[in-house]
Amino acid sequence: MKVLITGAGGMLGKAVTSCMESREHQVKGLPKEVLDVTNYAQVLETLSAERPEIVIHGAAYTKVDQAESEPELAYLINAYGTENIAIACSKLGIQMLYVSTDYVFDGEQNRPYQPWDQTRPLSIYGKSKLAGERAVQQHLRQYYIVRTSWLYGPHGRNFVDTIRQMATEGKPLRVVSDQFGSPTCTLTLSETIADLIATGRWGIYHGTDGGVTNWFEFAREITRDLKVSVTPIETKDMPRPATRPKYSVLDKTTLIHTLGREVVPWQESLSMYLDLKHARQPV
Ligand SMILES: NC(=O)c1ccc[n+]([C@@H]2O[C@H](COP(=O)([O-])OP(=O)(O)OC[C@H]3O[C@@H](n4cnc5c(N)ncnc54)[C@H](OP(=O)(O)O)[C@@H]3O)[C@@H](O)[C@H]2O)c1
Repeated sequence: MKVLITGAGGMLGKAVTSCMESREHQVKGLPKEVLDVTNYAQVLETLSAERPEIVIHGAAYTKVDQAESEPELAYLINAYGTENIAIACSKLGIQMLYVSTDYVFDGEQNRPYQPWDQTRPLSIYGKSKLAGERAVQQHLRQYYIVRTSWLYGPHGRNFVDTIRQMATEGKPLRVVSDQFGSPTCTLTLSETIADLIATGRWGIYHGTDGGVTNWFEFAREITRDLKVSVTPIETKDMPRPATRPKYSVLDKTTLIHTLGREVVPWQESLSMYLDLKHARQPV
């Protein structure tokens, strides 16, 4: 397929670009400096010139806490920017895949969320991403929305790298144990996205690595070979500007049926990542 990727300079954008290239698609990965999704004229001109079959829209405003103090910018990029892509795709007959987030849910349900469950974002970031979902649904029929969560990967600063660095520097590790979700590696998510766009089965999907954990247990697994101690704390002991959902696990049954395969357990993805990026010694 001829694939155009927005936000190709980002953590997921880089991983998706190389995954698509490895599958021998014709890939155009465009970073912000080349395609600013908030500029509709530029979006239309670029898509008209490139004529991809699908746009994978990875560009986003992703600073969850900072969004609380600059909501205009978060909405400009996540809502209007996404709408710009959706309108241009609609005009030119191009499919679109929009990457969304578990933060569209409030986390109060205490069971995994289905794609059709009621959304109720708690933060500006979550609200702006949900606005992006609605723009996609309003303008297009041939779309995929893939909600994911707790991303880390080789191409950007992330929780795994931060915890490893703090641990090796001997810094104290105090990590919240009352927020539950599914860590997801950008490498496995990229494979999921590549498999999904090959199906032609449009719709809303939940795409994360398998299983459930909390940030404290995740940090323990990240540092298992380093033999450091991690202290569990509660969210209230570490106030942050944006409220996070307490339990934002996403049910992947629809995705599993569509792809005809299971998702990779989060521990397996993490292990692969630690070997790859951190040259971890055997435990
Ligand atoms: N990270 C997570 O835990 C997580 C969880 C759930 C869902 N997601 C979603 O997954 C997707 C990828 O996230 P990520 O973690 O890879 O984020 P990221 O590393 O911040 O990548 C986003 C990219 O978009 C670029 N960008 C920002 N404004 C833009 C604009 N106006 N035009 C074009 N590009 C623009 C950013 O450039 P600059 O950095 O230069 O601004 C960055 O390169 C996003 O849709 C995000 O909402 C992420």
